[in-house]
Amino acid sequence: MTTPNMITKAAAILHRGGLVAFPTETVYGLGADAQNEAALRAIFRVKARPQDHPLIVHLASQAHLEAWARDISPAARALAQAFWPGPLTLVLNKQPGVLDLLTAGQPTIGLRIPKHPLAQALLQTFGKAIAAPSANKFTHISPTTAAAVEQELGTAVDLIIDGGNCAIGLESTIVDMSGTTPVILRPGMITAEEIGAVLGHAIFPASSATATRAPGMHHLHYAPNTRTLLQTATDIYAYLRNCSQSNFTQTVSMSIMIHSQDLLTAITREIKLPDHITLLPMPANANDYAHDLYHLLRLQDQRNLDQIIIETVPNDPNWDAIRDRLFKATAAR
Ligand code: TXA
Ligand code: MG
Repeated sequence: MTTPNMITKAAAILHRGGLVAFPTETVYGLGADAQNEAALRAIFRVKARPQDHPLIVHLASQAHLEAWARDISPAARALAQAFWPGPLTLVLNKQPGVLDLLTAGQPTIGLRIPKHPLAQALLQTFGKAIAAPSANKFTHISPTTAAAVEQELGTAVDLIIDGGNCAIGLESTIVDMSGTTPVILRPGMITAEEIGAVLGHAIFPASSATATRAPGMHHLHYAPNTRTLLQTATDIYAYLRNCSQSNFTQTVSMSIMIHSQDLLTAITREIKLPDHITLLPMPANANDYAHDLYHLLRLQDQRNLDQIIIETVPNDPNWDAIRDRLFKATAAR
């Protein structure tokens, strides 16, 4: 099917209350008509997502902003102007008519204008807002390819629009602009520093006291099924050294996602690894790492390994979103 035909078909599915998975620049979304209650219920059902987790509503342009949000501050408008279309979600006070299912009954709504050309084409052809969480089962890793959506949701979706790999690979930065103090509810590849530069003052992640507002922040989330651990380069090296001294008699199969070149060099130079241990070199810079992370984790998860080990990443603001997802992927079950 040609792309224009696919988009027309997708819009028709949304109009009749169906579900369409589509690419955005962050991750794939599971889309439904944001004004159709039955369609929204289907999103929760298909994802096995509890209803106290609000959905992000995707808009084609800022012209539609007032239909969904009110009391929009100049600071919120400045962020919209600076980062939309793009990987930013703004939490704003909702208009009275907004369905409770979208907001989990809260007085606020999450809004985003995506940049991906296919997401834009779908929003424009459909002509209305699209509610879309990430197109994965609740707590799983977000999909960054159409194949990953298929694997997560299969035939429960009426149509999957294939837009190849998502350029960013991690979910949008969520900023709560509904109160007097802006707060980052979920770090993303638009960093706190970039947001602060637009606001004219520093902005911080939500404290645990406010974290209940974005449930993605405090549960196990973004997680593989395989036992997954986060370890420092020193620990990984010491562990492998130890195993090599006992000739790797314990066959614990694992994949080790390595970030630092020094660690990779030390291991390959000094230790002869058995077949059940694979090294997976990860990109050195944050953007490339974010782009590859979910895809590579998903591939490792399919190998039926005993465990996945991930080397810790730099303690630098550019890595905030990646560190956040790594902590969640490795949280104790
Ligand atoms: O990049 C993204 O944001 C992707 C693409 C598809 O746009 N979407 C996404 O949606 O990650 P989802 O549902 O997987 O994650 C949305 C997060 C949830 O943790 C939810 O709690 C939070 O946004 N959220 C939505 N509306 C909110 C609100 N009114 N207040 C606080 N948090 C909200
Ligand atoms: Mg999600």
